[in-house]
Amino acid sequence: MPDEEEMIVTPWEVRGKVDYDKLIRQFGTQPITDQLLRKIQKHTGTLHPQLRRKLFFSHRDLDTILDLYEKGKKFVLYTGRGPSGRVHLGHLVPWIFTKYLQDKFNTRLYFQMTDDEKFVVEENLKLQETTKFAYDNALDLIALGFKPENTYIIFDVKDIALLYDIALEVAKRVTYSTTKAVFGFQDSTNIGWIFWPSVQAVPCFLHAKLTGENVPSLIPAAIDQDPYWRITRDIAPKLGYYKPAQIHCRFVPGLGKGGKMSASEPETSIFTTDTPEAIKKKVWSAFTGGKPTVQEQRKLGGDPDVCSVYQYFLYLFEESDEKLAQLVKECRAGEVVCGDCKAILTERVAKFLLEHQKKREKAKGTVEKFFIAR
Ligand code: TYM
Repeated sequence: MPDEEEMIVTPWEVRGKVDYDKLIRQFGTQPITDQLLRKIQKHTGTLHPQLRRKLFFSHRDLDTILDLYEKGKKFVLYTGRGPSGRVHLGHLVPWIFTKYLQDKFNTRLYFQMTDDEKFVVEENLKLQETTKFAYDNALDLIALGFKPENTYIIFDVKDIALLYDIALEVAKRVTYSTTKAVFGFQDSTNIGWIFWPSVQAVPCFLHAKLTGENVPSLIPAAIDQDPYWRITRDIAPKLGYYKPAQIHCRFVPGLGKGGKMSASEPETSIFTTDTPEAIKKKVWSAFTGGKPTVQEQRKLGGDPDVCSVYQYFLYLFEESDEKLAQLVKECRAGEVVCGDCKAILTERVAKFLLEHQKKREKAKGTVEKFFIAR
């Protein structure tokens, strides 16, 4: 069973039951404390539900970024996508949060589409395919409301000339033994993959090259991407840059029992281009904390702690903390049963995705406006 497996969290693989406190210790990051939340709130006014609920739970140097900001030093945001297929709801979580930060702090975003990474890492993908997914996935980002004035999408293969000098500066300062220790590279790993982390480091430092302004970057992403920033942070001062800061989220689980939402398990993942029928089918097959019969559940109540449907309300589909707490209470008391929650979730996801799909269509004519080389 997946939750009995050993926990593995790398940029390319997440397995087993994820213990987030243990990850903070293992990766050497900092927890997001209430004190830090108050410091963020000073600038944002309100706290995004993903912060209030500690779904963004860990960071590196976020306090430093805020201290600098308070002294008048701006920062830029950086995040990205490895385009190996369709975008799912899990990917949207850090992007929605990035939009919130961008709106509140009025900052520029660099977004990296890593068609090169996915080509070297995925055995069966051709370069034309990953490049095609990169343009397709950009529609999802644009559909979330990012504006071209302050959003710059880097399509790695197309834009490599812009990135290459910084990638070389990074690569020269990182040894093979470091990458083996950080990423677990083997003798059989192809050398494209081994070079790759130096390309993912580049957007942390790109703003200075483009504008002459040396400002720190803040990277919102799930915790799986953290290993990259360890090497990037080590070499940043050697190159004369600020260490990039991070804010890490937990993984949106799939609709099955345990595990993160992952495109490699399409039956338990909801993609942004899914039809209402597909959404319904997946939500109605979801693993829940229910009892074998409705009668038993009415009597004994359900268990939201293990329920995948609950997680979707928590992450994306119930903004009100009061209503969420009420739902938990009613579930435990057997007053609402799994069918009720599945019906509500199906409707909310379908409504959200219908709107998203319309915006995605509209975005089709606008991708070029977001090109970093415009
Ligand atoms: P990728 O395509 O694997 O994932 C894109 C973003 O989505 C996050 N993510 C999730 N977040 C919550 N729940 C999930 N189930 C889930 N699955 C994925 C990832 O952490 C990521 O933030 N190498 C990167 C592309 C990249 C990048 C970056 C990502 C390049 N530069 C800077 C973040 C920041 C990749 O393959 O992401």
